[in-house]
Amino acid sequence: MPHELLQRNREWAASQDPSFFEALTEGQSPRFLWISCSDSRVPANEIVECHPGDLFVHRNIANRIDHDDLNGLSVLEYAVEVLQVPHIVVCGHYQCGGIKAAMEHTDHGLIDNWLRPIKRCYHQHHDELDRITDDHKRWDRLCELNVIDQVEGIASTTVVQKAWQRGHEVTIHGWIYQLANGEIHDLGVEVDSPDQVPPIYRISASSSALGDA
Ligand code: CO
Repeated sequence: MPHELLQRNREWAASQDPSFFEALTEGQSPRFLWISCSDSRVPANEIVECHPGDLFVHRNIANRIDHDDLNGLSVLEYAVEVLQVPHIVVCGHYQCGGIKAAMEHTDHGLIDNWLRPIKRCYHQHHDELDRITDDHKRWDRLCELNVIDQVEGIASTTVVQKAWQRGHEVTIHGWIYQLANGEIHDLGVEVDSPDQVPPIYRISASSSALGDA
């Protein structure tokens, strides 16, 4: 019941050292932008034992950051340009319901529009995915590929590329959480320089926002 949450909040607040809250009112300087799924089983702070102030968090279904999503891009821009985070972590999870829905051919309603980029990701990797005969393994592999897709997509944003041009070192990491044992697996797909961005997405340091008419 909702009132139980309020009761738990009062107990939690009372159990903290008052100096803990004083420090937090001074401002935030998290070192990580954490992007993960809205799934209730993958809470951000808890699974990496972080405290308030440690992570700047953005969660949505299937941990997507797409270029037409004002919400996600605003979070990314604020984290990079204002908070100057040195690390962006995309932490997906196996058995993601959003990924599963994207693999189906049923009409799920509005959410199908949100999940559509995951179908594109599947299509890009259909040779590999279609060879996986075990449905569960194919699902889990698409969960991984979706994380890698986000790492590449974030690296190609103007937000991240302009940060690198300013000399702000920012690394994008791709991780995946295993519901079965609580462990996070590093997919080893870090991107920390413009050389790793495919040429067509690169912006040159000298180009202005207005460009040439
Ligand atoms: Co999920």
